[in-house]
Amino acid sequence: MKQIIIQFGGTGDLAKKKLYPAYERLMSENFDFNIVALGRRYKNKEEFIADSVSKDANKKFLEKLDYLHYDMEDEKGATDALYSYIASLVKECNGIELIYYMALQPSLYEDAIKQIQIVDAKLATICPFAKKIVVEKPFGFDSASATRYNDILLTAFSDKEIYRIDHYLGKEFMQNLLLLRFHNDIIRSIWDNRSIESIQIIFDETHGVDQRLGFYEKIGVVRDTIQNHIMQIITYLTMNDPATLSPEDIAIEKVKVLKSIAPITEFYTGRYESLGVHSGHIVHTPTYAALTLQVNSYYFADIPIYVRTGKMQKEAKSLIYIKFKNTTKKVMNDESIEENGVIITIHPELTIDIQMNLKEPHTSWKSKPVRFRFNQAETFGANTPEAYEQIVKKIFTADKSLFPSMREISEAWRIVSPMLEENPHMEVYPVRTLPRFVKEMEIKNTFTWFDK
Ligand code: BG6
Repeated sequence: MKQIIIQFGGTGDLAKKKLYPAYERLMSENFDFNIVALGRRYKNKEEFIADSVSKDANKKFLEKLDYLHYDMEDEKGATDALYSYIASLVKECNGIELIYYMALQPSLYEDAIKQIQIVDAKLATICPFAKKIVVEKPFGFDSASATRYNDILLTAFSDKEIYRIDHYLGKEFMQNLLLLRFHNDIIRSIWDNRSIESIQIIFDETHGVDQRLGFYEKIGVVRDTIQNHIMQIITYLTMNDPATLSPEDIAIEKVKVLKSIAPITEFYTGRYESLGVHSGHIVHTPTYAALTLQVNSYYFADIPIYVRTGKMQKEAKSLIYIKFKNTTKKVMNDESIEENGVIITIHPELTIDIQMNLKEPHTSWKSKPVRFRFNQAETFGANTPEAYEQIVKKIFTADKSLFPSMREISEAWRIVSPMLEENPHMEVYPVRTLPRFVKEMEIKNTFTWFDK
């Protein structure tokens, strides 16, 4: 099967930073495909290449990557040009698959889909091409628009042909989370509300909105990471064992988790302060948020899940902390005994620690917390595939295991909907500092963020 990727948003940040490097790597693994980047920023392929891909890019990749000037506002001109381009590229009908990849902001979806339909209908008169459509996150802007976009997509594609992206599902730590939970008997028996006291998810980033200001301003942190990445992490942390690890069986369990989460009631949002009046860099939308939620299922009810995530922090930190109940200190009548924990660190490097208490030398029955560590790079080498590489490979091979279903997406919008309303109390925090509400949340809920 020969695939052609038609890259909407082909001159955007995501395409340049993540997609083109992933395409290049896949080509070096002998995947054979063409890419046509659509955009209106550059006049021709030379300008596009000079600005969009690394100077050392592989020759074969550069031959297969093309650019088409595409102005979405000129529907007729744009769709005629795209139709003619694809028609000239395909020499025969058999074995060709068109992959329309939408890396656009949600407000452009409807126009893009309409244009794809126009091109698709014209192409169908020359060949019955196989096709897929890939839609970047956030899928929609809220519950209503997500449903509307999906309905529009379904007029031109079957659900099987629609790939909704959440690149976190392509990350090694996410896939590891499932295997940690479902390939280990000792973990299985401690992974529920009989043993777990609380869960924390911390995703602090040092970078700001940067060149994505225009996109981000319309989105904000809730749509950018909480509705998708954070919700997906929560499903992986708290779903019941799926019948098999097939995409369908995993999706069934994920939907159950999301359905058992009530809309979020405790949440806080903030935005980082302007980078200076002359910088032109003023964000009005939330760039940091913290929240508490509960999964009301038999095995996870009453475990508070504390989440904080956002931009312009002093330190990049991505981790999940599972804190276990500490009955031992009561039984042993020793307040100094610390709790056990599992710490899954994603950034700066992928590690999993299990924290236990063992004897401190030269003491009499005194223990000290120690960690048993798995380090991905040390164990498996530093060649873990990037998320987008795994995701695109799955699209090529029509494997939906790394893509959220529409039901998951709808439930996630329902859960975060209270957070989408305008917040008159949005805090403005100085760059490189945590908003004050991060501390307030600790005091209110009597827990301590895992900042060790
Ligand atoms: C993206 C968000 O989906 O995820 C970004 O749009 C965020 O704002 C990014 O920085 C984080 O992903 P990663 O792969 O860099 O951890």
